[in-house]
Amino acid sequence: MPNPDLSVRRYREADLDAVIAVFQRAVRETAARDYDPVQIAAWSTVDRTRWRERRGSRPTWVAVRHGMVVGFSDLEPDGHLDMMFVDPGHQGAGIASRLLATVESAAREGGLLHLFTEASRTARPFFERRGFQLVAEQQVELRGATLTNFRMRKLL
Ligand SMILES: CC(C)(COP(=O)(O)OP(=O)(O)OC[C@H]1O[C@@H](n2cnc3c(N)ncnc32)[C@H](O)[C@@H]1OP(=O)(O)O)[C@@H](O)C(=O)NCCC(=O)NCCS
Repeated sequence: MPNPDLSVRRYREADLDAVIAVFQRAVRETAARDYDPVQIAAWSTVDRTRWRERRGSRPTWVAVRHGMVVGFSDLEPDGHLDMMFVDPGHQGAGIASRLLATVESAAREGGLLHLFTEASRTARPFFERRGFQLVAEQQVELRGATLTNFRMRKLL
């Protein structure tokens, strides 16, 4: 999927506010079609200090287009992909696919045999298109709201 304006690089601490903004826009504008307003409010609430710690605690990659952070993803040591978010103005351009390819090659280099994630209703079709299979539907409690998501797994 060649896209000369798009690059993927490792996250650095100066990207913190940009990734939070991408996350909140993706949840409030895109995922909002699949969840109700109470669920979206709970999901999109951010504790900046926790976010700073989490981003620093695991490899995170950002997608950059025209000098702007437009998406990000990450990988925990056990193969858990926790985050996959693309700015609504840049969706459908292969950005999540580029990020996933980066996560997958890092996982393979680290000797992992599979990836797993908890996909939102919104992201499930994306993960299915990229080879993830459904393991279980689950209900998650988050700041007083209950959200449905899907545990999915991909063998590498
Ligand atoms: C899900 C998300 C990350 C996809 O990002 P994206 O950059 O638009 O994805 P891509 O352009 O790489 O799409 C890759 C493929 O998935 C498909 N796809 C992506 N989103 C889809 C959707 N909602 N429904 C159906 N297919 C979808 C695309 O058609 C494309 O297919 P193809 O290239 O094989 O024809 C993005 O929509 C997003 O941030 N959503 C809101 C936040 C969210 O729910 N994040 C995940 C939390 S688990």
